[in-house]
Amino acid sequence: MNKYKNTVLALGLLALSARAQAAPPTPGQLIFQKNCQRCHGKDGRLGLNGAHDLTKSNLNTMGRTYLVINGMGKMPAFNKTLTAAQIEQVVAYSLTLK
Ligand code: HEC
Repeated sequence: MNKYKNTVLALGLLALSARAQAAPPTPGQLIFQKNCQRCHGKDGRLGLNGAHDLTKSNLNTMGRTYLVINGMGKMPAFNKTLTAAQIEQVVAYSLTLK
């Protein structure tokens, strides 16, 4: 019986550590959720309001930073809403959407 108890315990610990590993959102992700998700969607693919699929974007860090600062077409400029550091973080996060 004791053997099983240990197995159950070990499984419980495994489940716990798996949950702990679900990484907390990064600052860039939080900024994305607040400012970008309504058009681009959680995974960058939503394409609402004519937004482009971010997973298919060829723009690099420089291009994306420029676009987020200045806006383009229906995409608003974020230079008044976000600090330079926040823009850097959200751009870095957008590049992880693949
Ligand atoms: C109101 C809707 C809206 C919001 C909010 C928005 N976008 Fe956009 N985004 C667009 C639209 C529309 C385009 C296409 C612009 C064009 O080419 O005319 C676009 C294009 C882009 C592109 C270029 C993709 C490509 O290669 O063509 C990037 C990168 C991008 N957005 C990132 C962001 C980030 C990061 C945020 C948050 C800080 C954000 N967007 C918030 C609507 C939005």
